[in-house]
Amino acid sequence: MILGVSGSPRNQATENVLRKALDQLELAGYETAFWGVRGKKIGFCTHCDYCLKGEGCAINDDMSELVTLLENAQAYVFATPVYNGGISGQLKTVMDRSRALFASNNKWLRYKPGIAIAVGGDRAGGQEHAIQQILNYYTMSGAVPVSGGFFGANLGATFWSKDTLERVKEDGDGFSALDKTLKKLIKYMEREK
Ligand SMILES: Cc1cc2nc3c(=O)[nH]c(=O)nc-3n(C[C@H](O)[C@H](O)[C@H](O)COP(=O)(O)O)c2cc1C
Repeated sequence: MILGVSGSPRNQATENVLRKALDQLELAGYETAFWGVRGKKIGFCTHCDYCLKGEGCAINDDMSELVTLLENAQAYVFATPVYNGGISGQLKTVMDRSRALFASNNKWLRYKPGIAIAVGGDRAGGQEHAIQQILNYYTMSGAVPVSGGFFGANLGATFWSKDTLERVKEDGDGFSALDKTLKKLIKYMEREK
């Protein structure tokens, strides 16, 4: 199963683009699952170190449903709106809280490929920086960051939403970057079979 994680609190551009990515992966024959922060209750990591005992997180909230998905996934597609030139606070919180997962099993992400999608209201509002944050998370977790490659998708899929769902749907360059990135992910997964 390929897991799509949305870091947007709204059912707008980011969720839409991520769902399209998952549809494409389904068409390529992969089972997918979607999980998003929208409507979820996820508290900040408080660095209480409870998780270092290896018994999960001290905070009991909606993060627990994501943990199983993260563990079972064979690949990841993290998508975020660009907030202040980087990923959303919600997605960052999810990353921080996943420390509890690492504390009980540090192999859960290891060697699995991951791609990133960033959706900004501005044409160059920090999409690449947001993607880099996601790729850093993969790297630090032992996962394998995969990009779409030169000529359009250098780090991953960058979208220009002009702050609306309608406009992101018109972003041909964004969808071509997504296409390239998905193709590279599929190629990687086929090679690893
Ligand atoms: C708190 C906040 C900060 C934002 N900062 C940026 C930014 O730095 N760069 C940018 O291009 N867009 C920025 N935006 C605009 C969003 O990235 C854009 O509207 C995006 O489409 C939102 O994703 P969504 O449609 O999935 O909610 C910001 C929006 C919010 C709410």
